[in-house]
Amino acid sequence: MAASLVQSGEDAFRKMFKFYKRRNPPPDFCHVIDFSGGIPNPDPKVVPAKLDPATVSDVEAARLGLQPVRDWRAFGLQGYPGFIFISNPFMRGSQPFWVRQCLKIYPQKPNICNLDIHMSPSDTQDIWGKSVHALSSPPSGKREPKTLLERLRWVTLGYHYNWDTKTYSADHYTHFPADLHLLSFQIAAACGFPGFNAQAGILNYYRSDSSLGIHVDESELDHSQPLLSLSFGQSAIFLLGGTHREDPPTALYMHSGDMMVMSGQSRLLYHAVPRIVPAPKEHVTLEMECCSMAPSLQDNAVVEPVSKQDWAVCSQYIQSSRVNVTVRQVLGPGQSFPETLDAGQAWTGRQQE
Ligand code: OGA
Ligand code: MN
Repeated sequence: MAASLVQSGEDAFRKMFKFYKRRNPPPDFCHVIDFSGGIPNPDPKVVPAKLDPATVSDVEAARLGLQPVRDWRAFGLQGYPGFIFISNPFMRGSQPFWVRQCLKIYPQKPNICNLDIHMSPSDTQDIWGKSVHALSSPPSGKREPKTLLERLRWVTLGYHYNWDTKTYSADHYTHFPADLHLLSFQIAAACGFPGFNAQAGILNYYRSDSSLGIHVDESELDHSQPLLSLSFGQSAIFLLGGTHREDPPTALYMHSGDMMVMSGQSRLLYHAVPRIVPAPKEHVTLEMECCSMAPSLQDNAVVEPVSKQDWAVCSQYIQSSRVNVTVRQVLGPGQSFPETLDAGQAWTGRQQE
């Protein structure tokens, strides 16, 4: 469905969301922009984006499992100033480390996840440990209960987002993971945002039938800083809209390793994920080659080799799932939260459509 077919005045975003979510009959994906170069005729909206390679040394990039910035394939989209799409800048063999962090490390306490709503901290203490046995053994044939890892939907880091009040607050903060902080700092620097300070993160875990509803990320107090988004595993259709629901969105593929930066005039645009789609073969098989092709590790490397046992679980998980990480700077330098009265309010889950 071309954007031009959507009549103005109605909720064009919702219409497009339903179009791409539809199962029967499945939609035509021919208008979805694919930055991976898999499609011979690039969309006329796609323009090259200029990065700043001098801000991140090749050694710094390699420590994080990233290619030298001058080799990154970065794009902008006409009509979306401040939007940057970086087509998988990871070195081959380094994505498994980040996938392992998202599945094994970041869900650990003190971080918060959807399972905490109905379970005690002791039950959600070791999601990985409680799931690996069932995930590593071949299916027995009878219907087995889902593991905690399979029931994981979201994890919050740093300033933990309160889904009910749609706010962050000073008293719901735990240490932000240092490796993801550094990765975010370097990506933002390459995109023209030196000094980016990752303070909050939201990880979304998608199964093949999941979607994420139409929203704007506006709860951060400093909107001059970009929002970073990284994806692993299966691919997604991502819809990037305008400042109004009536603005017809642009549909993009997000594949494993791809990154998006929403900044400037694109920082507060409506967006959504109506559908998860199977990853093209080369995006997961080649890029994820783990134990046989681990990146040559240097001193001080952040990215470590992933053990065969861990990778067996991760690779099985991402064969049918997608993980998305969004990283946000909540406060500008010297800024603090306004006084709030809502301390102690209960949390409920994120709304999914
Ligand atoms: C979010 C978000 C997009 C994605 O978490 O706010 O927009 O690609 N995620 O999963
Ligand atoms: Mn968002």
